[in-house]
Amino acid sequence: MILGLKNPFFLSPLANITIPPFRRLCAEIGADVTVSEMTFARGLILNQLKSLNRIQKSKHEKKFGIQLLTNNVKELIDSINIIEEQKLADFIELNLGCPKRKITNANLGAALLIPKNSRLLLNLLETGGSTTTIPFSIKMRLGFSEKTYLNILKHAEKNNIAFATLHARLAIDSYKIPINVANWNEAVQKITIPIIANGDIPNKEIGLKILENSKISGIAIGRAARGNPKVFNKNFPLSLAAQYKILIQYMKDSNFFSPLYVKIQSNDFLKKFRYSSYLRNKITSMQNLEDIVSTTREALEAYG
Ligand SMILES: Cc1cc2nc3c(=O)[nH]c(=O)nc-3n(C[C@H](O)[C@H](O)[C@H](O)COP(=O)(O)O)c2cc1C
Repeated sequence: MILGLKNPFFLSPLANITIPPFRRLCAEIGADVTVSEMTFARGLILNQLKSLNRIQKSKHEKKFGIQLLTNNVKELIDSINIIEEQKLADFIELNLGCPKRKITNANLGAALLIPKNSRLLLNLLETGGSTTTIPFSIKMRLGFSEKTYLNILKHAEKNNIAFATLHARLAIDSYKIPINVANWNEAVQKITIPIIANGDIPNKEIGLKILENSKISGIAIGRAARGNPKVFNKNFPLSLAAQYKILIQYMKDSNFFSPLYVKIQSNDFLKKFRYSSYLRNKITSMQNLEDIVSTTREALEAYG
């Protein structure tokens, strides 16, 4: 069981995409667990509006985790204390996977998987696992060589880490390189903490097959949920146009009705239609938010 759930489906965090309104829609359609996008622990401690907005939980999110970026034990403790005191989340997750240069240059995310950081990482795992009263999890890539991930998972096992989401790619791998299913299997054979499989899972049906045929404890779906929240429940009765309308309403009800987020979501919702590249280019150059919304809705209603 993870967070009291058997074989849950996670909406994997996607920066700028899994904003609170999108998480809420996915949760209402069928995602069991939602996670904030990566959030600088320092931003949370300094009460920065951008960080606080992104970690708002809606009551429709059944189980919600806040994902932290930090390489500092004191920062980790302070942010855990804030999250717990204010009851902001059901679990706290440490990001050990982001390979973006901006993040790794700051010695954060996947950089914590570099062998020279192993002592630091161990301290962070020990601190997280012993400070929280709610579950503390990790989300990781395999590391910089395939030798890394099992060692880290073993440390996690010893340090009260509740579960680990394993994106089965090396930190340096691009998305063009397929994930290696053997890594999930090796992890569940050798490690006792629950493993959430992540990477290239295109839909719930494939996720269910993975759960059926392995000792994997849950599934995290990221990119396949973009513009496609029905990935969590193909029988959800509303059309894509209707889902988009609801999403826009949720964005208006929160602090996310802005050109950046509306353009991202509109492009995502249109992406699977043939000839959508013309429309998506048009949307990218549009300035008026209501025009972007009506252009997207009309297209979804016509083609959806
Ligand atoms: C645009 C984008 C943003 C992402 N942002 C995050 C993030 O904030 N935190 C995180 O742990 N992973 C992040 N990821 C990684 C995904 O959560 C996931 O691990 C990865 O995409 C593999 O799963 P998928 O094949 O289902 O997308 C991001 C990936 C993408 C493509």
